[in-house]
Amino acid sequence: MMLKVEDLCIKIHDKNSTETVVKDVDFTMKRGDILGIVGESGSGKTMSALAIAGLLSRHNMEKSGNIIFEDINLLNCSRKVLRKIQGSEISMIFQEPLNSLNPIKKIGWQVEEGLKIHTTMERLERKERALNALKDVELDNPEAVYNSYPHELSGGMRQRVMIASAMIVSPKLLIADEPTTALDVTIQAQIVELLKKINKERGTAILFISHDLSLVNTLCENVLVMKDGLVVESGKCADIFDNPREAYTKGLIEAIPHNPFYDGKVI
Ligand SMILES: Nc1ncnc2c1ncn2[C@@H]1O[C@H](COP(=O)(O)OP(=O)(O)OP(=O)(O)O)[C@@H](O)[C@H]1O
Ligand SMILES: [Mg+2]
Repeated sequence: MMLKVEDLCIKIHDKNSTETVVKDVDFTMKRGDILGIVGESGSGKTMSALAIAGLLSRHNMEKSGNIIFEDINLLNCSRKVLRKIQGSEISMIFQEPLNSLNPIKKIGWQVEEGLKIHTTMERLERKERALNALKDVELDNPEAVYNSYPHELSGGMRQRVMIASAMIVSPKLLIADEPTTALDVTIQAQIVELLKKINKERGTAILFISHDLSLVNTLCENVLVMKDGLVVESGKCADIFDNPREAYTKGLIEAIPHNPFYDGKVI
């Protein structure tokens, strides 16, 4: 198994209280799997993802359980091992690329960052890799994008740039937290197609978090349904979306807005 999350609990401490925001979450992913996580706002999707990507602040968050990635427990291995895995074997992209992109650095510089941190590659080779990565995410004119600043690109182009930055280190697992939520429906569909292509061609496993059950059903084989920090239901998308056991899951399905791009194909 590539990833085994066992009894993951995350507690947030503040001055006078402790809140458990992720409760005994268990799931596994094999290489090349695409797993969706759905659930209402505040159900713990992002917290679970950040814990796996190693991006949770250490000072007020307490994690317990196991996150075993390729036989290494990320919750108790050395910082050195963790740094090697997180950011090179596990990459993450977010809802709003502008928050992750540095506004005063050109795109090329930012796409190459993973190579600067994780390899000893020379400048020219890095540039070649970055241009290829931009081409792989189907950006027209990679050279122009390479020399652009983030504000010069559209939202869809910026998300493609983020995917290029995440994929340049050839991670085994890509975590995508609401990567299409800020985009309009045509662009959403294109980004989902791109993720599918990456999965198929490069074998990258994808953990896809979304409010959009139609997109999850289009992209993912399996899904976890989260509520109040707990996984309330999990299994194949086909089973869960056709035949939800929990009233909560039924409610999520009934709340799906009309999406013309997926009509008829799903749910
Ligand atoms: N930095 C933080 N400090 C304190 N509490 C937080 C922090 N981030 C999240 N929380 C709390 O943790 C819980 C889970 O949040 P999380 O962001 O994982 O939800 P989510 O399922 O990703 O929701 P959404 O769909 O809105 O993105 C929420 O109750 C939230 O209030
Ligand atoms: Mg979230």
